[in-house]
Amino acid sequence: MKGKFIVFEGGDKSGKSTQIKLLQKYLKKKGHKVLLTREPGGKGSVIAEKIRKIILNKRHKEMDKRAELLLFLASRAQHVMETVKPALEQGKIILCDRFDASTYAYQAAARNLDPEVIKYVNNWAKYGLEPDYSIYLDITPEEAAERRRDEKEDRLDSEAREFHELVRQGYLQQAEENGNWLTVSAVGDIEAIAKQIQAGIDKIL
Ligand code: TMP
Repeated sequence: MKGKFIVFEGGDKSGKSTQIKLLQKYLKKKGHKVLLTREPGGKGSVIAEKIRKIILNKRHKEMDKRAELLLFLASRAQHVMETVKPALEQGKIILCDRFDASTYAYQAAARNLDPEVIKYVNNWAKYGLEPDYSIYLDITPEEAAERRRDEKEDRLDSEAREFHELVRQGYLQQAEENGNWLTVSAVGDIEAIAKQIQAGIDKIL
């Protein structure tokens, strides 16, 4: 495979979507072929996007946490095979809004599902695909709550603050354990954050 698989991670309202678009622009300007995609769901994948709608639907309050995990992983399997692997083979740089670090932060750390089970099934679902680089935008639950005011929330956004704190701890632990992570504070000037991300990316390309 010739391309690069770059993942953006972070709590809700960490500004991932803004930063991922800025990086896309930056890389395109440099002449790279870039594909922007996301999880749950995925660019060009009707099936994965349908699964996304089921997961995030605010009316689905009774969703069981194991069912939720398996839906995320079903979306991932479809996304990896239909979108990510073909794009990597074409030599593209894939910028993906969330991948399996989200599963460890949300389903293991926050929902308290067995990380060993997640590890096994996730690895199987993602066909062993590992990100080449992960950019983590760190935000406190307090700051996120401030940003969330007046905005439309999905099913996971509306979890309690304690849940978002556990998510954050789950991310910080992974940031510590993984070598190919860049942790950036999500608070501050948008352009300054973008510059830090670009510097990290320049090093690996
Ligand atoms: P977002 O991509 O629009 O932020 O929404 C996706 C939500 O799904 C977000 O709250 C994080 C959550 N999520 C998980 O809980 N587990 C996962 O594996 C993924 C990819 C996302």
